[in-house]
Parts: sequence; structure tokens; C-alpha cells
Amino acid sequence: MSKKITAAITAVGGYVPEEKLTNADLMKLVDTNEEWIRTRTGIEERRVLTEKGKATSDLCVPAVLELCKKRGISPEEIDCLIVGTVTPDMFFPSTANLICDRVGAKNAWGFDLSAACSGFLFSLTTGVMFIESGRYKKVVVVGADKMSSIVDYSDRTTCVIFGDGAGAVLLEPNEEGLGIQDSILKTDGSGCNYLHMKAGGSLRPASFETVAAKQHYIYQEGQAVFKFAVKGMADVSAELMEKNNLTGEDIAWLVPHQANKRIIDATANRMGLSHDKVMININRYGNTTSGTIPLCLWDWESKLKKGDNLVLAAFGGGFTWGATLVKWAY
Ligand code: UT7
Repeated sequence: MSKKITAAITAVGGYVPEEKLTNADLMKLVDTNEEWIRTRTGIEERRVLTEKGKATSDLCVPAVLELCKKRGISPEEIDCLIVGTVTPDMFFPSTANLICDRVGAKNAWGFDLSAACSGFLFSLTTGVMFIESGRYKKVVVVGADKMSSIVDYSDRTTCVIFGDGAGAVLLEPNEEGLGIQDSILKTDGSGCNYLHMKAGGSLRPASFETVAAKQHYIYQEGQAVFKFAVKGMADVSAELMEKNNLTGEDIAWLVPHQANKRIIDATANRMGLSHDKVMININRYGNTTSGTIPLCLWDWESKLKKGDNLVLAAFGGGFTWGATLVKWAY
């Protein structure tokens, strides 16, 4: 009997723009202060892509090229490329299409997947299916957002949180049982009220009125989302551990969505994890939506060991949330 094929992450790439937007910079834009931002969110600075004519795909292309270089493959070997994003370059064609063209992934097809801050986990789980089914050998999963394109820099409750960035992983078949082990993903559309963008879709197409009413920016009821996020991310992480008979001792790393340091701390406590096992880069990048989890993997890649158990966990707009168990493969 042939061995069960699992989907393993075999390379990681990432990219953040050079330009930094610090808490002190934001104090010049809105009525806020460095201490409030740092203590309420954990953020010290974020990266922003300000160059005219640059979009989410410009964040993704260097991340995908880095990943190919690290793994020593040509982009032509990529079978499929999935991009988790809520800030696509355009409604259509998909950002995945544009990236494939620009990196020279001539033999790939691809698509964008919209799941807000859970975009990377939803895309990863989708990519895993293509590998586990035996259909494809090389699937690239990207999480990327240019949040600065939908942030209202006169709204102090949202503009301090978000940043721009992209991370990407390569999925390949593994016969040692390494790679993605399990995933629990959830959605609840009734959460739409608390976090959404009011206009620009088919419900409220762009018009002079929607622009004047600032309806093309993120709308968030922060406190309500905070409460759902703390519960959702902690519950689903605990559920994943229980389902796989794991305790905090068995987990090498928690790789949490970076929305608020306080949400991350609550999840780690619930999982029984000491804080040295938690990847945190929110202080440097802010909340890059779909980008946060792969950017953590990118930053921590050199510390990861073959066989390490990682729990990836996210909560975001929609609501969408989930947790994924990964046995690191290299
Ligand atoms: O990533 C996807 C999902 N998103 C999330 O998970 C975000 C979840 N929510 C949060 O992280 C937090 O709710 C925020 C960081 C957005 C806000 O923090 P908070 O502790 O929930 O603040 P709050 O909205 O309860 O506001 C507390 C006070 C208010 O003042 P008053 O009414 O008590 O006088 C706000 O007006 O803080 C004020 N405030 C600020 N003060 C200085 C709100 N934003 C700021 C600011 N600077 N930037």
C-alpha cells in the first residue's frame, strides 16, 4: 500500500515595504499617543507601501521569488498559486493571476481567496487539499495585504493598527508524515456588522456619495471584535489541541494572527504556553491581515526544527477564524 501523502511547507518567503510608519508619525495625523498604541495593541511601527502605482501584488512578487530561490526551483515548476487577501490589486483579474505572470509561473493557475485575517489559514488548508489528493506537487500559498489602501488615516481607532506586508509558503508532498496535520476553520456571517468595508461591492457600488461618506475604508467596532477574537482564537486553538491529544508541552510554537498583543496573550494562556513559545512581530509590522502568519514563519524560519509542532491561529473579519496544526518539515 502506498504511504499517505501529507502536505509539507518546504520554503518560506516574505516581503515588507521599506517605509516605516511609527507611532510618533501617527501622532502627527490623529489625536493619539505612543503609550496608548503600545499598551493597548503592542504595536510600535508598521510598514507602508506608499509608492504610486504599487499594489498588493508588488508585495507578493518578491516573497514568491525568494521562496523559489530558497528551495532552488524555477517558478515554472509551480502548479497552483493561491493568494489570501482582502486588498486585491483589482476586483478582477485575481492578484494570483498577476503574480503568476510577473514571477514567470507559466504553468500555474491560481486564484484569490477572501477570508480577511484568516485568509492565510483558509488558503493554506485549500492548498493542502491539492497536495493530499495527489493532484499537484508544488502549490504556493500567499497571505498578503496592502491595508494602507483601505485605512482611513483620520480614524484613530483603525489607522494605528494596520500595516502592509506579504508572506508565502511552498507546499510539497511529504511521505514522512510531516507538514499540515489538521485544521479547524469556522465562519459566522453575522459578525459582518462589526468589521467590514461598506462600499465598493455589488451592494453599494462606488459613487460620489460612497466616497464622500468614507465608505471605502475599514469599518470596525473594535471592542466587540476584540471580545469575539479573544474567545474565537483561544477556543479553536484549544479544540485543535484536544482533538489531536496535545498539551502545551507538545507545542513548540504558537503562530498567532497579529491583531492585538492582548488577544495573542489570552490565546497563549489558554493553551498553557509560556510566552517564549509565541511568535510576536506585531511590534514591528502591525496587523497585516492575511500577511501576519506567513510573516511570522518568515521571521522565525531559522529557529524552527524538523518535527516541531506549530499551532497557527487566526481570527478576523467575517467573522472567520481557525487553527492549523503543522509538524515542521525541515
Ligand atoms: O485583525 C482582525 C480583527 N481585528 C481585531 O482583532 C481588533 C480587535 N480590537 C482591538 O484590538 C481593540 O479593540 C482596539 C485596539 C481596536 C481598540 O482598543 P480598546 O482597548 O478596545 O479601545 P476602545 O475602543 O475600548 O477605546 C478606549 C478608549 C476610548 O476613549 P474613551 O471613550 O474611553 O474616552 C477611545 O476613544 O481609547 C480611545 N481610543 C484611543 N485613544 C488614543 C481609541 N483609539 C485610540 C487611539 N489613541 N488610537
